Amino acid sequence: MPRSPRLSRRDFIGRSSAGIASVATVAAATSVGFATIPSRAAGRDWRIRNAAADALLRPEADDYDDLIKLNYNENPYGPSEQVVAAMTEAFKYASRYGYPDRAVKSVIAEHHGVERENILLGAGSGEILEVVGLSLLSRDKKVVGSDPSYSAVYSHASGIHAESITVPLRDDYSQDIPALIDATNRHYRDVGFVYLCNPNNPTGRPIPADDVRNLLDGIPADVPVLIDEAYHHFAEDPDYASAIPHVLEGRRVIVARTFSKLFGLAALRLGFAVTTPEMISVMEPYTTGSINALAKYGAVAALEDTDAQRHMRDRTIALRKKTSDELRGMGYDVIPSETNFIMVQTGRPAREVRTAFREHGIVVGRPFPPLLNHLRVSIGSEKEMAMFMAAFREIFAA
Ligand SMILES: Cc1ncc(COP(=O)(O)O)c(C=O)c1O
Repeated sequence: MPRSPRLSRRDFIGRSSAGIASVATVAAATSVGFATIPSRAAGRDWRIRNAAADALLRPEADDYDDLIKLNYNENPYGPSEQVVAAMTEAFKYASRYGYPDRAVKSVIAEHHGVERENILLGAGSGEILEVVGLSLLSRDKKVVGSDPSYSAVYSHASGIHAESITVPLRDDYSQDIPALIDATNRHYRDVGFVYLCNPNNPTGRPIPADDVRNLLDGIPADVPVLIDEAYHHFAEDPDYASAIPHVLEGRRVIVARTFSKLFGLAALRLGFAVTTPEMISVMEPYTTGSINALAKYGAVAALEDTDAQRHMRDRTIALRKKTSDELRGMGYDVIPSETNFIMVQTGRPAREVRTAFREHGIVVGRPFPPLLNHLRVSIGSEKEMAMFMAAFREIFAA
């Protein structure tokens, strides 16, 4: 039976042979005269390589609309009517530069109980994560974080010739905060920043607020901590809390948020950092500073449309529970999730299972080493999840 709930230590052998923390292998520097300060060009090289790899998995445009897309943790319903109306209005500025932008930064700040000076916008929170890498990492400055986690942070680091010090998740898939503290303190002089994905992608597990505080209290105050809250809105666990209050305490904390998930604006590309004005002054020179008008108008309307937010969140959480219960009822272990995706241990290689689902017109998550027999599935609409379950029953009937 595909029923081994815990991630065994042996799953990690080979990656952490030198103690709790392992320094990831880094691609050798290729260009002569590579700048000590990471350049945007280095970031671009990384993106081009990733896009080339991803293109192999990309469906043709004709197929795309028909596919059931449960692989990128998107919002299956799209933006609300109010949001679409606001973006439609913004089209009249499509040919302009200095148009009125609905004070998007101030509106975001107000919604999160901070000042406008605490907000830095990015083209998706992906840009914020890259900007943190570009401004705080170098050949001599490393990122410390859990693995598996949102691997784009570590890939980007290696793309700009910086190393990652990664700490395996614990057997219950939680992030090992004491080991992260220890790794940071042991490598203190070499640490550019600590990365926490909360709740974590790909496992969906949250870090309790007390653990976040313990980490901040347990490392030197001058080490920046990037806390990626892309899935914040789907967390129900009473022990979870946003880290934004730590920014207001004046700590070197950068909270990354996105409009791509709950708000359904992934293709519009808007994310932001909540951090101190001092951290913003370090990071800002590395941003493109180019957010499109539709994203700004859409974001303001999305923050105002609290009914749509509640509706989307409730539907997603209800379907997350329903799907998890059904899979557990069939004897499969599902990691308890606080996000808009779940991870199920199928007992079969994710790569193979992914191909089988693709034959049913469903795209599911890629393999996330070392969880190679786990499948990450985004929570789609009710109809999409019914089709996912029907395909699952067929694929695993054998
Ligand atoms: C944990 C996490 N952070 C950041 C991102 C980047 O999202 P975006 O750039 O669309 O805001 C993602 C995307 O899936 C994610 O899962």
